[in-house]
Amino acid sequence: MNPIRERFLERDTAEQEHNTKMAKGLLGHAQKVVVFTGAGISAESGIATFRDPDTGAMWGKFDPEIFSSMRGFEENPELVWDWYDALFKKMTAVSPNRGHELIAELEKKHEVTVVTQNIDNLHERAGSTNVVHLHGPGGVRCTACEWKGTREQTTDSSPPTVPFCPECGSCARPDVVWFGEMLPAEPWEKAMTAMREAYVCIVVGTSGQVEPAASMPSLARQVISINTRAEDHARLAFNAITLTGKASEILSTLLND
Ligand code: OAD
Ligand code: ZN
Repeated sequence: MNPIRERFLERDTAEQEHNTKMAKGLLGHAQKVVVFTGAGISAESGIATFRDPDTGAMWGKFDPEIFSSMRGFEENPELVWDWYDALFKKMTAVSPNRGHELIAELEKKHEVTVVTQNIDNLHERAGSTNVVHLHGPGGVRCTACEWKGTREQTTDSSPPTVPFCPECGSCARPDVVWFGEMLPAEPWEKAMTAMREAYVCIVVGTSGQVEPAASMPSLARQVISINTRAEDHARLAFNAITLTGKASEILSTLLND
């Protein structure tokens, strides 16, 4: 190997070991922990991320202005529903990975709040009991009234048709926050409180490009950032302890003695 490259790798390994020790030290003192997750935590379950070219980068193939905006939905409801039906089906078919399981196991030693941007429910399926969904639970809701539920509860409920609200008959939409929309108030407040009260926030697998969620970890006293891409740590919190690698591997080093 090129000797200069070798020196850089040695430096990176030493830094990672040092950061692992610091992160373990922080966790050793922490009672309240927030785990803030993005699409990267589910990449190892086989769900494509939005922006990482190594793990699917859905927004490189599908236009978010169509698939993640009210305007896109109003103009193409069949197309958008078809896409979400396939996505929800995929999310139900896959299983939580070791990363999700290790996050659930954190509850044995700490008071944990998981704040997730994901809509796949894999944290709950892995056993986490306190999960806050910032971008929606991924069910179905009415575009006109307050009704929320599942696809099965709608009229014309079977894909590929567009579902309608069982209460008022209006078109129903995926219960997901789209670009330009406010985050739902209750999860937002819950997440902010958990973030402020936590001794440490572990950020896992998010590019930190979507506000206001991305700024949330900077409220925590201490931040540990886990990501396969070194360049994505920086957007989250300037003082984060950074650990570069796959969530399942880093979490198992961090959480096992
Ligand atoms: P992104 O796709 O923007 O980022 C995924 C991140 O995960 C990247 O930083 C990757 O480097 C990292 N990653 C990939 N595999 C990993 C692994 N095995 N372990 C650790 N890290 C890994 O996804 P998000 O940041 O979640 O919004 O995107 C935020 C929001 O943008 C989403 O919630 C979605 C999207 O538009 C809505 O749908 C409302
Ligand atoms: Zn309705």
